[in-house]
Amino acid sequence: MKKIEQVYEGKAKKLFTTEDADVYIQEFKDDATAFDATKRGTIVDKGVVNNKISTKLFQLLEAKGIPTHFIERLNDRDMAVKKVEIIPLEVTMRNVVAGGMAKLLGLDEGIVLDEPVFEYHYKDDALHDPLINDFHIKALKLATSAELDTIKDMSFKINDILKEFFDSRNLDLIDFKLEFGRCKDKVILADEISPDTCRLWEKKSKRKMDKDRFRRDLGNIEETYQEVLKMIVD
Ligand code: TMP
Ligand code: ASP
Repeated sequence: MKKIEQVYEGKAKKLFTTEDADVYIQEFKDDATAFDATKRGTIVDKGVVNNKISTKLFQLLEAKGIPTHFIERLNDRDMAVKKVEIIPLEVTMRNVVAGGMAKLLGLDEGIVLDEPVFEYHYKDDALHDPLINDFHIKALKLATSAELDTIKDMSFKINDILKEFFDSRNLDLIDFKLEFGRCKDKVILADEISPDTCRLWEKKSKRKMDKDRFRRDLGNIEETYQEVLKMIVD
């Protein structure tokens, strides 16, 4: 499978058409951004690590019955994916208070939530990905009620699967972000699942093992991404 034409470049990935009209190649870059790309940098080999981690997690989710855009990992940085129309929502699931939720509600990071907190954000950097609800989504015609039901149901299932998996790898899944796409009238999981899009804390020590090391200048960024890869991919 070959890249033919670049159709999109995001902050962490590029997307290319292939000879198959239904298949794209997603290339993982080393570029790192935070705070709506006002902070920019490079994490050496992040693309390679995130491609491998996303592959492992998409395979795990597929095996548990979650439909995803994943087809196969082609090489270090490239993944073949089903062509989807991305729904412009960033869906977050939170098991422990951190980041945006701590800031929004004036809470301390680290409070364990009795039940997961499910949120929709409108995917728009210029607006700072604002928190919205299903009424906004329907008013803006971003997704239908049936699509939102599917997204919500899948997100809770994904949280259960990933929490259990990370737990077995000595990591606590604090929160994460998902994106969904339409593929032949079906809603499927798209984008990536990686330390860029999840908060992962080492159990007991609570050491941060995700992109917060870059966002907050905590150091040992590359080393930590490699360590997470070893913990996750056998
Ligand atoms: P938040 O606490 O900053 O809202 O982030 C929640 C989760 O979503 C966290 O695991 C990091 C991830 N995330 C992204 O993947 N992309 C983003 O643009 C943001 C803000 C967060
Ligand atoms: N990726 C996002 C950005 O650049 C934010 C983040 O992950 O913190 O804006």
